[in-house]
Amino acid sequence: MENKKTYYITTPIYYPSGNMHIGHTYTTVAADTMARFKKMQGYDTYFLTGTDEHGQKIEKKAAEKGVTPLAYVDEIVANTQKLWKLMDIQYDDFIRTSQDRHMKVVQKVFRQFYDQGDIYKSAYEGLYCTPCESFWTPTQVVEKDGVKCCPDCGRPVESMQEESYFFRMSKYQDWLIEYIESHPDFIQPAKRANEMINNFLKPGLQDLCVSRTSVKWGIPVDFDPKHTVYVWIDALSNYISALGYGTDHDELFQKYWPADVHLVGKEIVRFHTIYWPIMLHALGLPLPKQVFAHGWLLFGMDKMSKSKGNVVYPQPIVARYGVDSLRYYLMREMPFGADGNYTNEAFLTRMNADLANDLGNLVSRTVAMIEKYFDGVIPAWDQAAAEPVGDDLRAHCAQLPHLVEEQMDKLQFSQALAEIWKVIGECNKYIDLTQPWVLGKDPEKKGLLGNVLRTLAECVRFVAVLIQPVMPSTPGRIFEQLGLADENLKTWDSLQQFGTLPQGLQVHKGDALFPRIDIKKELEALNGDKEEKKEEKKEAKPAAEQKPEKKEKKKAEIPEGCIAFDDFAKIQLRVARVITCERVEKSEKLLKFRLSLGTEERTVLSGIAKFHTPEELVGKKLILLANLAPRKIMGIESQGMLLSAVKQNDDGTETLRLLTADPIMPDGAEIG
Ligand code: ME8
Ligand code: MG
Repeated sequence: MENKKTYYITTPIYYPSGNMHIGHTYTTVAADTMARFKKMQGYDTYFLTGTDEHGQKIEKKAAEKGVTPLAYVDEIVANTQKLWKLMDIQYDDFIRTSQDRHMKVVQKVFRQFYDQGDIYKSAYEGLYCTPCESFWTPTQVVEKDGVKCCPDCGRPVESMQEESYFFRMSKYQDWLIEYIESHPDFIQPAKRANEMINNFLKPGLQDLCVSRTSVKWGIPVDFDPKHTVYVWIDALSNYISALGYGTDHDELFQKYWPADVHLVGKEIVRFHTIYWPIMLHALGLPLPKQVFAHGWLLFGMDKMSKSKGNVVYPQPIVARYGVDSLRYYLMREMPFGADGNYTNEAFLTRMNADLANDLGNLVSRTVAMIEKYFDGVIPAWDQAAAEPVGDDLRAHCAQLPHLVEEQMDKLQFSQALAEIWKVIGECNKYIDLTQPWVLGKDPEKKGLLGNVLRTLAECVRFVAVLIQPVMPSTPGRIFEQLGLADENLKTWDSLQQFGTLPQGLQVHKGDALFPRIDIKKELEALNGDKEEKKEEKKEAKPAAEQKPEKKEKKKAEIPEGCIAFDDFAKIQLRVARVITCERVEKSEKLLKFRLSLGTEERTVLSGIAKFHTPEELVGKKLILLANLAPRKIMGIESQGMLLSAVKQNDDGTETLRLLTADPIMPDGAEIG
């Protein structure tokens, strides 16, 4: 039997410190798309994801909730697996670092490092960022308002002092520089490689603290059990422990290692391209062929993050628009490697433009015309009526698999989809150009009309096959409309030649693949979803408590000068983060704010320019009266009012300060 080429792809293993959001979904969908693409091409693929369950961050979270770390993560892991199922993710394995199979490998690896002199015992004194689970020296941290903060995520670090084991990273520094420089594909995009070399390797690697005595939730060092293994050493090992490395059953490891690509977000490149290669090299193992760092999904200007709470979750979007739409959007909207904003509006706009209009219309027009002019039977090619007008389209579509492959091999999902959509666009133009409805009136043009429709049907088949890695369930619906049952015509191999679509298939017009949506209404509904939930929460009392008499109960008397609670409840106060702030031209008093409420942005004017400078307000979390009727001030619509406190000074002047919220409150948090 012929040995198939293997392809091993991984996602980071995520911290189950909170439920996964659209950012984690992004990486996981990308890995799934790539695995499906390679599988379609005939590779023997292996796709690993999982959860990174140990460490101080989880330990703290569990303690706050008053449960054991394992109980804490179990629930989130179950939710995560449910989410991946919802997103149509087909992983081959899901590794949890709390599993025995993983812990044993980590202990073994740690001991080997120690035995061969890569690890030594000493004392650590320095700084620690818990959200990043990362050590820093006093010269690396940045100061903000006198507080020492993590240079990566900007949050405060804690000082830490304890007995620790250290890994002699410095010993491998020159080797690693040479490796990175001689393997230009190892770190992608290439600018990340330069960052690593210039910011970390050239200045000199510090030996890395690789154990903790103050963190109990971790893998014990087996020869010195008051120490637990540093969570990043633990986590990175998942990529080989999941394959059974170092055990009697290492068949998967033998087959799939080295990985073809580790997909990671750009904030964890350092761990994957410095610590991980050094660990592997120390073990005498080959390095992964590539670490690809993609960009961030932002919320406003900020990285969406579990620990910041400024997140979008996929579930309500999928419930409303289906999983393929969201997968398409994630893979299409921003080039892999770059940052981008998630907004409902951009998502809905793409749904209408790319899915309902371009793809959906092409399929429904093609099928409808075959029904109308050929009784629903896909016609044969009529050489006598060959029309040159479609030659370019046919040649382009024949090339399409190759064009897509070229982009996919560079993990350029957005570009690969753009190639497919170019052909879709060309098909729609071809319809306008050939005007089948005119040809249909002339019996002499029947052959030509048949060729046009057959060309379209074959292009649709190509498109359906090629979108499958990104949109797993849409192709089936397209094939059904084309009346295409033969599995052999739905494969990558079946695209080697254009025009192999058999004649005589009976098409079936179905529902629109992606119905056109009213963006304004949908936006209201998506934002309104939250309002409803709030209402539900209020009303979610057990039925027994909602006694009917209650309604009839007389309203309590309201003392003079007071308002009823119901009236207060009409007021919507929200935490609003200042994205930008500037003076309004020709006005001494007005500042113009752009504010983030998490799911939306607002423009608000406030007459406080005498009391605050714009610069000092950017990034602040203010209190917005969010449901005040909008009004125009100096031609600009102000959508809400910022709250402030005023002090009367003895000299008759006033001092005013805007009210602020605790910075840990997410954008848009409700106040009440
Ligand atoms: O870092 N935009 O876990 P984590 C894009 N456990 N991608 C995002 C994202 C965003 N806003 N937010 C998260 C860890 N991601 C470690 C990894 S690996 C050996 C250990 C994705 O829960 C992206 O892939 O913080 C990012 O690198 C990862 O989730 C971080 O997940
Ligand atoms: Mg993170």
